[in-house]
Amino acid sequence: MLEEKTTEAVRKRYDRIAPLYDFMQGFAERWRFSSWRALAWGKVEGVRILEVGVGTGKNFPFYPLDAEITAIDLSDKMLERAGAKAARENVKVELLQMDAQHLKFDDNTFDTVVATCVFCSVPDPVRGFEEVKRVCKPGGKVVLLEHVLSDNPLLAWLINLFNPIGVRIMGENMNRRTVENVLKAGLSVEYVTRLNSIFRLIEARKAGAISA
Ligand SMILES: C[S@@+](CC[C@H](N)C(=O)[O-])C[C@H]1O[C@@H](n2cnc3c(N)ncnc32)[C@H](O)[C@@H]1O
Repeated sequence: MLEEKTTEAVRKRYDRIAPLYDFMQGFAERWRFSSWRALAWGKVEGVRILEVGVGTGKNFPFYPLDAEITAIDLSDKMLERAGAKAARENVKVELLQMDAQHLKFDDNTFDTVVATCVFCSVPDPVRGFEEVKRVCKPGGKVVLLEHVLSDNPLLAWLINLFNPIGVRIMGENMNRRTVENVLKAGLSVEYVTRLNSIFRLIEARKAGAISA
């Protein structure tokens, strides 16, 4: 019940932010983010790809050309923007409104699941990663670009102090322990690349044989 209320609050917040999102992210994109996106999408394997929390479609330029991509988001307004961008830029993607905590796909559907800056705002991230694991094929890959609680004790203390403000404005928790949450969901973590004191590229995998 609490999860439903919080999820609805996150959806409304992103509906409100949608018209401003690209502008708000502009500096971060130019500063580092685009190169991190390229790095993350370079780790994708297979043909059937799910992007969770597509937002306004900032990952479109990095989609592998030969892939069959489905992308979901909680917020209709973010999806509207992604839809317009996909049409403008001729991007081949199926866009669907869906909650990461309750994915409406069959088990073992995707070769790779990708998310960039999403699981900081999913109310129950472990539940979300359990769903990611369920829809991933046996041996399938999970690629995450996420900010996590800093390993610098002073910065971590400051982030914990100011986290409620970040949640209120952007709906993002800056203090998530995402690697631990991925492990709690039963995925195995293969690599964690430290991009800076808070951003990590996490590569995880679902157990099982990789199908051809
Ligand atoms: C910070 S934005 C990131 C958007 C995009 N991935 C990017 O890198 O620019 C977070 C996105 O996650 C979506 N989101 C948050 N909670 C979600 C959930 N439970 N299920 C699906 N999408 C969710 C939001 O609507 C928003 O579009």
